Amino acid sequence: MRIYLDNAATTPLSNEVIDAMIPFLRQNFGNPSSTHQEGRTAKAAIEKTRKVVAKAIHAITPEIIFTSGGTEANNMAIKCAVRDLGVNRIISSPIEHSCVFNTVNRMGGEAIKIEYVKLDDCGKANLEHLKELLADQSYTTLVSLMHANNEVGTLNPIAKIGDLCANYQAYFHTDTVQTIGHLPIDVRTMNINFLSGSGHKLHGPKGVGFLYVNKKNLIEAYIDGGGQERQMRSGTENVASIVGLGQALQGAIDQLDERKAHIEEVRNYFVAQLQAHFPTAHFNGDYAGDCLFTVLNVAFQTKLPVSMLLFKLDLNGISASGGSACNSGAVSKSRVLNQLPITDEYQSVRFSFSHYNTKEEIDKTIATLQKILL
Ligand SMILES: Cc1ncc(COP(=O)(O)O)c(C=O)c1O
Repeated sequence: MRIYLDNAATTPLSNEVIDAMIPFLRQNFGNPSSTHQEGRTAKAAIEKTRKVVAKAIHAITPEIIFTSGGTEANNMAIKCAVRDLGVNRIISSPIEHSCVFNTVNRMGGEAIKIEYVKLDDCGKANLEHLKELLADQSYTTLVSLMHANNEVGTLNPIAKIGDLCANYQAYFHTDTVQTIGHLPIDVRTMNINFLSGSGHKLHGPKGVGFLYVNKKNLIEAYIDGGGQERQMRSGTENVASIVGLGQALQGAIDQLDERKAHIEEVRNYFVAQLQAHFPTAHFNGDYAGDCLFTVLNVAFQTKLPVSMLLFKLDLNGISASGGSACNSGAVSKSRVLNQLPITDEYQSVRFSFSHYNTKEEIDKTIATLQKILL
């Protein structure tokens, strides 16, 4: 049996999600825009999921737009805010997911100023600096800062960021792809204008996500066509996947405390075992503090390149992911880790957990790491 410790990349579909989706791949095949029974059944299923998503984040149903995933939702929020809300400055961070980072950079130019908030050594946004930036009120500003970083798990204080944005009349977009269904989120009390989520990090399907758009922020069509998804995002909906997203999110919310307790136990056990067997290893980010409990980014002191380390783990049946990207065969440090104080004699591996992981898997992983590294 393989050991899957890469749940921040994606998660396996749960049986409940598969069971919920199958009828919408078989008999309930209707086009949700059709007015006959098949169409109405499909439409009702989409609206049911919309309610689940809205309730999960304390929004109202018209504020939820289904998309093809987190990437599209992030693109939509940023591009529409610039196009439709007069945004002429974006404040973001250099460790956002590429779908935010590259979108923000593409928007930058003469008409749109891009500013990056300073980060602490764990990758957390410096709120004093954010306040200083926001104090310049000569712009219409969008702040785009993620909730949890996908490589190191560092959490931004999104309620405080939302407060600051509200005080300085800035729009606030947050990417919650890694946290939705793991941590409670309230778009009202957190003053969030745009929020992005995805299905596949919480045992739902890939290729489906959503954007929350606060009802006061009137944006126009991001994808033109038949006007599905509140005239903002046209295209015949991915009904089965939307149903899967709803089932996955409902399951995550119903079992939030149990799953969290289990994952924390497995992760804490892994930390203790690593500290016992690899005394020179350390953890990137604020692993014992403001860190998403599903992520543990470990820096091993080794001469073995991280690509080889991951390859050997893989050969031994263990899936994890690197803090590095491979470009034309050359291994380079990831953009995120580049912003953190990590010295070159360390190789960083991201282990990320779900409630399916067990302590026995951790024991096997430790034994394999000992075989590879010691
Ligand atoms: C923080 C974050 N944002 C956005 C995305 C992109 O989401 P999707 O894969 O649904 O397009 C990911 C996925 O890796 C992510 O981790």
